[in-house]
Amino acid sequence: MHFLFYRDRILIKSLVNCIYAQATFSEASGLFSISVKIPESTSQLDNGNVEFTIQAPANKGWTAVGIGGTMAGSLIFVLYPGSGNNVTVSQRLGRGEVMPEYYAQTNLQMKQGTGIAAAMMTAIFTCQNCKRWLGGKLDITATDQDWIYASNSADTIRTDDRQATIQRHSDSGYGTFTMDMTKAVVPDAQASTPATSNPATPISGSTGSLNNQSSLLSKKNTYIIVHGKFSFA
Ligand code: HEM
Repeated sequence: MHFLFYRDRILIKSLVNCIYAQATFSEASGLFSISVKIPESTSQLDNGNVEFTIQAPANKGWTAVGIGGTMAGSLIFVLYPGSGNNVTVSQRLGRGEVMPEYYAQTNLQMKQGTGIAAAMMTAIFTCQNCKRWLGGKLDITATDQDWIYASNSADTIRTDDRQATIQRHSDSGYGTFTMDMTKAVVPDAQASTPATSNPATPISGSTGSLNNQSSLLSKKNTYIIVHGKFSFA
């Protein structure tokens, strides 16, 4: 009896690990959420795939996340509504505190499930050449990989053009968070399954912390931890 109980616990734990094996972050106020998976067999290759699911409100302009700690040098994905129920994901390179530039060297393949539903943009895509770019890299061994985010809820942008001009983020709309990338590396068979992610429903197994840099008005580098929702699988 005791043995069965122990065995069942192991089984349940591995099932849970299997379901939730991914790196995720859900911003607590519902601004965005992101899940990342990296297929194990190509995880060491710079041009290996990275699987993304990003969600953000559809009625609030653009929302972006970027791999890196500052605008400069980050590989950024900007989401905005496209035609019909499409979601446009624009891959860009941060060059400093100016509009990030479209980055054609990174290739995105949009996947089924991408679109606008219930006032939410969902972008599910495979990214090739997302692990190393001009000025930065995604460290798959990092338990605290830096990411940035930003949004502009007033920008009325709606276009399929990945190179469209976006308006600068609003004052309250940018910051940093970290994710445990070691959790993102999964067996290949699991990587093809889109990771679930919903800003309003933080996922068990998510991991991250948030620094809201909008409080950096004095620019003294005093980060204020606001409210990252996180737990560990
Ligand atoms: C038109 C586009 C953009 C312009 C003109 C712009 C401009 C700026 C400026 C001037 C600052 C300095 C702080 C301030 O004055 O508020 C800043 C900071 C910041 N921006 Fe942007 N930004 C743009 C888009 C983005 C995007 C798409 C992201 C994506 C994640 C982003 C993330 C950040 C972050 C994290 C900071 C904090 C400081 C830093 O990392 O350099 N920005 N931005």
